[in-house]
Amino acid sequence: MSRPERQPSPDVAGAPPDFVVADRIVKHFPVRVGAWRRGSVRSVDGVSFTIRRGEVMGLVGESGCGKSTLARVLLRLLAPDSGTVTIAGRDLSSLHGEDLRRFRTTMQLIFQNPYAALDPRMRIGTSLEAPLAQHGIGTHRERCRNAADMLGEVGLDESFVERLPRQCSGGELQRIVIARALLLRPRFLVCDEPTSALDASLRAQIVNLLVDLKNRFDLTLLLISHDLRVVRYASDRVAVMYLGRIVEVGERDAVFDHPLHPYTRALIAASLLEENGLAAGDAIRGEPASPLHPPRGCHFHPRCAIARPRCANGEPELAGGSGDHRAACFYSGTLAAR
Ligand SMILES: Nc1ncnc2c1ncn2[C@@H]1O[C@H](COP(=O)(O)OP(=O)(O)O)[C@@H](O)[C@H]1O
Ligand SMILES: [Mg+2]
Repeated sequence: MSRPERQPSPDVAGAPPDFVVADRIVKHFPVRVGAWRRGSVRSVDGVSFTIRRGEVMGLVGESGCGKSTLARVLLRLLAPDSGTVTIAGRDLSSLHGEDLRRFRTTMQLIFQNPYAALDPRMRIGTSLEAPLAQHGIGTHRERCRNAADMLGEVGLDESFVERLPRQCSGGELQRIVIARALLLRPRFLVCDEPTSALDASLRAQIVNLLVDLKNRFDLTLLLISHDLRVVRYASDRVAVMYLGRIVEVGERDAVFDHPLHPYTRALIAASLLEENGLAAGDAIRGEPASPLHPPRGCHFHPRCAIARPRCANGEPELAGGSGDHRAACFYSGTLAAR
């Protein structure tokens, strides 16, 4: 996939520029370790970042680093152990009952497997209409009209309302799932590995569709993927996650062209090798540690080519390069100079 020129975001006058603000989010899961001991999986371990209104924020990192858990906390599908999430100026922990239910419709999640997202026995039209009916929006007739129109917006014709999921391809199903999410007129859309279950040939199409819909429907998008190419293609800004922490964040081109964290550099190298049909394993040494027992200090230090004794003791904070480009590495200044 080549990199498109960025379009300026639509007019955002009057809206808070920081649309989603995550502040020191922690989410650990208690688990049994062996017969007697209990431990906790430190899935999200102190994450702060912001997403500006109207932008595509990319979130990358190897499988198991906590991306989906973070997404579920942002959407309040999971309560964090500590930390706050503010969306459009509302602290989500202050919302309960009916208020929370109503606010939730303004945030929608699209995930990897469109086959699992739709009831196999339900016609597409019914699946699309159901969430509107649940929220008491419109008459039956209006809901059917909206559903058919939304199919057009995602590039499908209205005859799809009569089909069952098994009569659609994977790409068509993902478009239908996107249409269903948009029918509720969300402001914030989280796409968690939206193209991972699809053939490579369809990935660019779905990512292009998401960016296009973002502009047309005035959405703010969090695009999560372990695939750097997807994130590089579509994001305005990018956050890189490693073992429950954000290790680098910044404008897309700054992060990809001038990475400050050794982990980001290794991920980019691995992705380049993969693109050229070579094994990516050589680019990053070893396996990620278990989030049950993350290494002390910088979580990445056992795999890091430039680690020094200090890295095993202190925890580096996200700190500045130029503009809002920041990395959590004691030696990112050294890397920036190279
Ligand atoms: N409900 C849960 N109970 C226990 N561990 C969990 C739960 N959900 C996620 N995890 C663990 O948290 C870590 C991060 O998972 P996840 O957020 O799914 O990562 P990613 O989306 O980056 O692949 C993994 O080690 C995973 O096994
Ligand atoms: Mg995931």
